[in-house]
Amino acid sequence: MKIVVGITGASGVVYGIRLLEVLSDIAETYLIISESAKKIIAIETEYELEEIYALASHVYDNSDLAAPLSSGSVQYDGAIIAPCSMKTLGGIASGISTTLITRAAEVCLKEGRKLVIIPREAPLSLIHLENMVKVKKAGAILLPASPAFYHLPKTVLDMVDFIVVKALDVFGVRVNTELIKRWGTE
Ligand SMILES: Cc1cc2nc3c(=O)[nH]c(=O)nc-3n(C[C@H](O)[C@H](O)[C@H](O)COP(=O)(O)O)c2cc1C
Repeated sequence: MKIVVGITGASGVVYGIRLLEVLSDIAETYLIISESAKKIIAIETEYELEEIYALASHVYDNSDLAAPLSSGSVQYDGAIIAPCSMKTLGGIASGISTTLITRAAEVCLKEGRKLVIIPREAPLSLIHLENMVKVKKAGAILLPASPAFYHLPKTVLDMVDFIVVKALDVFGVRVNTELIKRWGTE
């Protein structure tokens, strides 16, 4: 499986990093980190960028619109934007693909591939909500960064994993069930 992972400048960059950790030995990943996300990684985590790059199979610059991912003729299964800022969401919703992340998202929508968007903002303005409706209508799957509590998370990582597993469920990637306890299972 080939999955694009876009990390943008919203709070919760750990979602994208954890996704890469989980996918590292089960999928080929194409990582793009926006410039704002790089700043937030430094603020919110103890990861060095090089450590995060090492988790991915391929790394591209968000300004590299000539990267293979920009073309619909390059085959990948889909993309997960984790977390997705309201700016990147707006770009996708309006079809203005000035970055590689928005372009890869556009390719997924036009080619009918899976696009999982993990938006993070609070509270949400009408513009944010309308952009979410637009991308949903265009075929994206919106997975808000709002973990449940019924699995009795004990750590922040437990809460992060809840969302990571949900994102991978969309791709039919069944990860180690130790990551989360699913409701209704022993
Ligand atoms: C510490 C910090 C936290 C931020 N958190 C959010 C957020 O949760 N959601 C959001 O939409 N923007 C957030 N922003 C603003 C975005 O980083 C900003 O809109 C940026 O232009 C997004 O660019 P990108 O989508 O190319 O990464 C945050 C900025 C900073 C510095």
